[in-house]
Amino acid sequence: PTWHLLLLGVAGDKGGPATTVRAHALGWLAMMCRATPWCHGPALTPTSAGTTWMQEILTLLFSLGDARPAKTIPNWERAPWLEQIYSREALQNTGSPRLLTTHLPARVLAPPCSVIYVARNPKDVAVSFYHFHHLAKFLPDPSSFDAFLTQFLEGTVHYGSWFDHVKGWLGQRHLLDILYVTYEELHQVSPAVFLGCPLAPGTLAALEQHCSFSAMRDNAMANYSLIPAEIMDHSQGRFMRKGVVGDWRSHFSPEQNALFNRRYQEEMGDTELPSQWPM
Ligand code: A3P
Repeated sequence: PTWHLLLLGVAGDKGGPATTVRAHALGWLAMMCRATPWCHGPALTPTSAGTTWMQEILTLLFSLGDARPAKTIPNWERAPWLEQIYSREALQNTGSPRLLTTHLPARVLAPPCSVIYVARNPKDVAVSFYHFHHLAKFLPDPSSFDAFLTQFLEGTVHYGSWFDHVKGWLGQRHLLDILYVTYEELHQVSPAVFLGCPLAPGTLAALEQHCSFSAMRDNAMANYSLIPAEIMDHSQGRFMRKGVVGDWRSHFSPEQNALFNRRYQEEMGDTELPSQWPM
């Protein structure tokens, strides 16, 4: 079938005929994934939450600190996007053990593999995602941050509601082999510690150096600068933008903050999150 090619274009839409196509496409993808034995699962994450960082960390863990793969192979080949793998053969050709990346929601995937789910304070996600919209030519230009924030809270952005995504995957925690990691933890804890990998001190130092924000910002295989300008307009900014915790404070007005907090409480009030974000 060819309709699954529509997947990226329609995910996160508001409804209408495209939703049916999307449902078929996601169902097909989920079936394909279930039928394929995986050794290592996706670094799953809502958008703008640390996906690229986790791809880099896992690449370095797989290579035991050898930076050559991360410096010579683009990250979309090292940890391919599930959304862009169009046949079971292509999935099998990714080798084993394999790393895969996706932003897909839990309800369509629930894959039989180990999953690392990276989440981030949604206020920082909204800010990062807003800036990403200026770069990404395949996404609509947000008229203002305020307008974008409204869409973010309504879940009418690409890949849909942040709240649903996080709750959906949290709901899988007793059924799947999932490790929840937050972007904020990545800033504080050594990757080798939370992933439980005993690494020699030299290897760990190499990994931490290579995966630092500044090293990744300058690595063309990780910073998306190789993506053609028709897809990402590099004159509008960098994908590796700031890489800090709490940048929302320089974007949110007191009114936006109050609205966000109310909405967060309504959606996430009863949720047992792996970490409490500074709200
Ligand atoms: P900012 O826009 O806040 O700078 P994703 O890869 O899920 O799309 O997330 C992108 C965000 O992760 C961007 O956030 C980017 O700068 C940040 N990021 C990527 N690698 C990082 C690193 N090594 N250290 C800190 N932040 C990183």
